Amino acid sequence: MTLFCLGSINLDHFYEVPQIPQPGETLLAKAHRTGLGGKGANQSVAAAQAGADVVHIGAVGADGAWAKARMAELGVRTTYISEVAAPTAHALITVDKAGENAIVVFPGANMHQSLTQLKTALLTAKRGDMLLLQNETNLALEAATLAGSLGLTVLYAAAPFEAAATKALLPLTNLLILNAVEMAQLTEATGLSPESLAPETIIITEGSKGGRAITQAGETRFPAFPVKARDTTGAGDTFTGYLAAALLEGQPLESALRLAAAASALKVTKKGTADAIPARAEVEAFLKAQP
Ligand code: RIB
Repeated sequence: MTLFCLGSINLDHFYEVPQIPQPGETLLAKAHRTGLGGKGANQSVAAAQAGADVVHIGAVGADGAWAKARMAELGVRTTYISEVAAPTAHALITVDKAGENAIVVFPGANMHQSLTQLKTALLTAKRGDMLLLQNETNLALEAATLAGSLGLTVLYAAAPFEAAATKALLPLTNLLILNAVEMAQLTEATGLSPESLAPETIIITEGSKGGRAITQAGETRFPAFPVKARDTTGAGDTFTGYLAAALLEGQPLESALRLAAAASALKVTKKGTADAIPARAEVEAFLKAQP
């Protein structure tokens, strides 16, 4: 079984700041680092670190060979990452003392995905494979439509939230993942409660409070694991990638959520995004150590 991920690939610039800047405020950063990021790349890396076979579909610029190489090092298949005539995307990430962040993304090459490449990649999929999408690339709607016609399960992390894109993708989505803020935005945009939305399964993450899973059987809560936060950036992506990998393995939703929550908690203890996503063995050891 394979997870196909149509997703963003960014160069993340991290700035450690005393607090997230206010409008009109200039701050001096205490540290600056760079690394591989992008919600799509992070999710692919998380699923690969969880042990899944992951094919990433994406685009970088002429300046992006390093990103493709790093994704391959982290276990992702990169055949369908192409070089396009736009700069590799980058993100400016401010992280405060509590590990909270604020992010601005320049989407660059992520918005220049090729439809031919997308079709070529998805036509290699087999029944039982999954497609994972977010809102940081073009062609998400085309990908979900094709995946549906091929019988793939479509997972969609509706971030960064964009009302029109999300509304269009909902009828094509089997499993929707979003955080509590995005869920509130979606409720406002559609006027519908989570129970009335099209996807069979909706996962609403609530940071250190865990989250909720809404299925046809009703709503259940899942817990978070308490950790000391150093950097929450990419925690949601880690959760999503691990969840997808566990579901692809055939795990029941409850245990898949537990694995995803543990991976996400461990990520929060480390600085960075794709490079800081924990490996499966580390996550399993963390779970074993829980009371
Ligand atoms: O979710 C975290 C990610 O959001 C970062 O890696 C950044 O690139 C943005 O896409």
